[in-house]
Amino acid sequence: LHVAVLMGGWSAERPVSLMSGEGIADALESLGHRVTRIDMDRDVAAKLAAAKPDVVFNALHGTPGEDGTVQGMLDLMGLRYTHSGMVTSVIAIDKVLTKQALVPHGIPMPGGQIVSTASLYEADPMPRPYVLKPVNEGSSVGVAIVTTEGNTGNPISPGAKGPWQEFDELLAEPFIRGRELTTAVLGDKALLVTELKPKSGFYDFDAKYTDGMTDHICPAEIPQEIAEACKRIALDAHRLLGCKGASRSDFRWDDEKGLDGLFLLEVNTQPGMTPLSLVPEQAKALGMSYAELVQAIVDEAMQ
Ligand code: DAL
Ligand code: MG
Repeated sequence: LHVAVLMGGWSAERPVSLMSGEGIADALESLGHRVTRIDMDRDVAAKLAAAKPDVVFNALHGTPGEDGTVQGMLDLMGLRYTHSGMVTSVIAIDKVLTKQALVPHGIPMPGGQIVSTASLYEADPMPRPYVLKPVNEGSSVGVAIVTTEGNTGNPISPGAKGPWQEFDELLAEPFIRGRELTTAVLGDKALLVTELKPKSGFYDFDAKYTDGMTDHICPAEIPQEIAEACKRIALDAHRLLGCKGASRSDFRWDDEKGLDGLFLLEVNTQPGMTPLSLVPEQAKALGMSYAELVQAIVDEAMQ
């Protein structure tokens, strides 16, 4: 096949996408496919029209790329592409729309509210500790946990430096103590549960992409009932949102509360494919190589 690997772009996750894209392109070449690497810019449609690929491997993360814009363009161009389609992507990139889509179906997710950053300097939106996150970023870009300690003031003092300064509006959610879990879905199957144990702080951008900063325990050493619940919820969320290819559902689990302490945080429709990424790691633990995973994602796009 001739595969165009779409990567880079201009989201905050550009460097992550370039890592994913290079890994995918190398794997496709090792499988004997012809590969055109495309770093997405405003001329991307012209580049794709000139390349005339059989299929586009979407290795973009963040906005645009994971948010439906690129998917809509590819639909208009009549090109096949990997992962989720436009409508699914529009919903899944937005953490509020995702809650609205999944909670009515019984998927447990933390409550949340949109707050203006200016209002944070007047009052806390909810009791501490809480989490502030942009509605549509990935890789923990812009995420802050507001605790009772630290120098952020109560409410946050206008001088306090933090990632919230970059955004006019944020999603505030209660912080769920306990453990960080994640489950990949490939096609119609939930893979495994991985527990992420950052060596310090939380599983933020640096902990995600710096080798050695986070222990990945795969499969997670958690009770069977929690592992089964993660897989069931990840698969249900994948189906309810209409995901295609691979997705990855991220969870927090308050291990003092059993099943009642398990919450889905979000569904990633363009999960990372870097050397430290979690979907390839789970596939590998099940005996599937990185190249086989890439081929499986392409196969689903060709169906
Ligand atoms: N947003 C990153 C790439 C992930 O979900 O893996
Ligand atoms: Mg994400």
